Amino acid sequence: MLLQDQRVVIIGGTSGIGLAIARASIAAGATVIVASSRQSSIDAALADLGPSATGQPVDVQDTDAVGRFFDALGDIDHLVYTAGEALSLMPISDLDLDRARGFFQTRYFGALNIVHGAVPHLRPGGSVTLTSGSAGERPGAGWALAASVCGAIASLTRALAIELAPIRVNTVAPGVVRSPLWGQMSDTARAEMYEGAGAALPVGRIGEVEDIARAYLYCMTQGYGTGAVINVDGGALLV
Ligand SMILES: NC(=O)c1ccc[n+]([C@@H]2O[C@H](COP(=O)([O-])OP(=O)(O)OC[C@H]3O[C@@H](n4cnc5c(N)ncnc54)[C@H](OP(=O)(O)O)[C@@H]3O)[C@@H](O)[C@H]2O)c1
Repeated sequence: MLLQDQRVVIIGGTSGIGLAIARASIAAGATVIVASSRQSSIDAALADLGPSATGQPVDVQDTDAVGRFFDALGDIDHLVYTAGEALSLMPISDLDLDRARGFFQTRYFGALNIVHGAVPHLRPGGSVTLTSGSAGERPGAGWALAASVCGAIASLTRALAIELAPIRVNTVAPGVVRSPLWGQMSDTARAEMYEGAGAALPVGRIGEVEDIARAYLYCMTQGYGTGAVINVDGGALLV
């Protein structure tokens, strides 16, 4: 098995794409450590994942807490970062600078802080896989902030691939994926959004979390690609 006896830490591994990565990693032979902000999501994820998983909450903004989190874990093989809240639109005409800065907190500064804490513990041959989104290269009107976060993660990925080499650093950029991220929409609005977004894509459907998890597994298990942003978006960049 591709991840036999390897230790995979997934920040954001308690829901959606991260939880699917945790399941796929365990199926590939790994033991996984999932972390996110809420104990309730950790408990639910561990009940789902079974004995090959452990987990605990972590405040991704707190450098000391992140340091303690990784010190307690010891050596790890792969770090995955999928933590993030739902993206919301902010047209430039409605700019709120404090809210705009907030877009970067979990997805960018959280990722940076987690990488800083994890790197001393990554074994040779290890990898880091971050998360962006197709909005980075294919933004619509009102997506300036969300697209900027994706662009920042892509640049961070390339810079870290050089600085942390030979540890490999990659990013997965999903398109629209069916996940709890969209849970704040009404059932009807969400179903319509999924239907409309899928119909507009070359593949004719939106993504499932398992589609996206395979890209993260690829990033962990191949030994050659680094500094890459892998788009898994049903062809969204083409239409
Ligand atoms: N779903 C999509 O269509 C889509 C498309 C493009 C990109 N993405 C990106 O992919 C990533 C994962 O999305 P998803 O669909 O898997 O979302 P999800 O199902 O809502 O999962 C998000 C995860 O992040 C954790 N999280 C949220 N805020 C956190 C914080 N401050 N600190 C630590 N953990 C935090 C959540 O757990 P807690 O609530 O316990 O903190 C949860 O485990 C996100 O960055 C998202 O923007 C998703």
